[in-house]
Amino acid sequence: MLKTVSINHLGQHIGEEVAVYGWLHAKRSSGKIVFLQMRDGTGFVQAVMVRSDVSDDTFTEASALTQESSLRITGIVKADERAPSGVELQAVTLETLQLTHDYPITPKEHGVDFLMDHRHLWIRSPRQRSILKIRAEIIRAIRAFFDDREFTQVDPPILTPSACEGTTNLFHTKYFDEDAYLTQSGQLYMEAAAMALGRVYSFGPTFRAEKSKTRRHLIEFWMIEPEMAFTTHEESVEIQEQLIVHVVAHVLRHCELELRTLGRDIDRLAKVVSPFPKISYDEAVAFLQKNGHEITWGDDFGAPHETEIAAQYEQPVFVERYPTSLKAFYMKPDPMRPEVVLCADLLAPEGYGEIIGGSQRIDDADLLFQRFEEHQLPADAYSWYLDLRKYGSVPHSGFGLGLERTVAWICGLEHVRETIPFPRLLYRLYP
Ligand code: 4AD
Ligand code: MG
Repeated sequence: MLKTVSINHLGQHIGEEVAVYGWLHAKRSSGKIVFLQMRDGTGFVQAVMVRSDVSDDTFTEASALTQESSLRITGIVKADERAPSGVELQAVTLETLQLTHDYPITPKEHGVDFLMDHRHLWIRSPRQRSILKIRAEIIRAIRAFFDDREFTQVDPPILTPSACEGTTNLFHTKYFDEDAYLTQSGQLYMEAAAMALGRVYSFGPTFRAEKSKTRRHLIEFWMIEPEMAFTTHEESVEIQEQLIVHVVAHVLRHCELELRTLGRDIDRLAKVVSPFPKISYDEAVAFLQKNGHEITWGDDFGAPHETEIAAQYEQPVFVERYPTSLKAFYMKPDPMRPEVVLCADLLAPEGYGEIIGGSQRIDDADLLFQRFEEHQLPADAYSWYLDLRKYGSVPHSGFGLGLERTVAWICGLEHVRETIPFPRLLYRLYP
């Protein structure tokens, strides 16, 4: 019995005859030779079948293969410098597992809606596969970063009784006789976990019923949320910078083929090194005003503002100390200037917008209670959260990294819909 080898490992079997299972990605033939482009999930390889090397039946079968037919090919592995995988298969036998008819996604151009309707098949394409591989590597790099620094992973709940990031985009559901919401952020629970375990992080899905149909918003997206006891805003920003530098370096090291498949400008990514620029919200507003934007102190930034601010730099830029009135109830005011909070948004280069939102948290029970009233939050639903300020309150900080926006930036994608296997969008719940 021949050894079955995955395409990414064929290079270790030069000169051997092996079996490869996969699907037909594309086919070319010249009458005497059929070139079968095969994929198996781990990579792509060309199997070359020469008429004079195989039986007539085998050659006829290969000539009739259609896109996305599933198959097993045996052949001899040959080194081939021109091939992206570095190898080619000289085919010996072919077994068709299923001959596919009318695969809907052909090599011609398809519209986005058509591709989104066929997302379950679209993810087989070299481009979508590359994105999903890079997404997985980014997750691996993030986990390794926190695990190596002795953060403990903690999983906050998905069904929650209260809001974390404002009440306007909550997903409501019934929880037996009570009302519940899908989590917008695990942060409040991570603060409790930080008081139990010191330095923690979560990684999970979050939900926002965003009515905005933009290229940066998903309804369901994944967030990494570290939370750190005895940590100031400045220290948190330092860790955010190290995290991003680590993640980009990891992708450059492990995903070169995928980045090339996407046509990503790798030189741009290579410029993501410490230190990142830091500007204040005040400076950002002054910069925008100087560039002709009608914006006044106290206004939030829109996508065009963020893009213009970020365009000044090669690296991501931290914008710090936003007006208290713009930000979430839990952020700690700057003691020197209570009209701003100890927070930062990290804006990615090249127009990808905010990838991290973070802050130092209010640690004073009275001020937190006052914020519940100002934000009209029901104090009873948050009384457990107030307890964290009653029993051994400490300075603490944390942040949330949006996975999909980070993937969009690193992959150089136009829209976040391609960054997640099955995107949930304003008008899309299928497939
Ligand atoms: O800035 P946000 O709303 O911060 C929080 O939720 C905090 N509670 C996090 C924390 O401190 N633990 O969201 C964090 C990040 C954003 O910077 C953005 O990258 C991403 O989550 N994000 C979205 N990504 C895709 N689609 C959406 N609708 C998103 N909303 C936020
Ligand atoms: Mg934010």
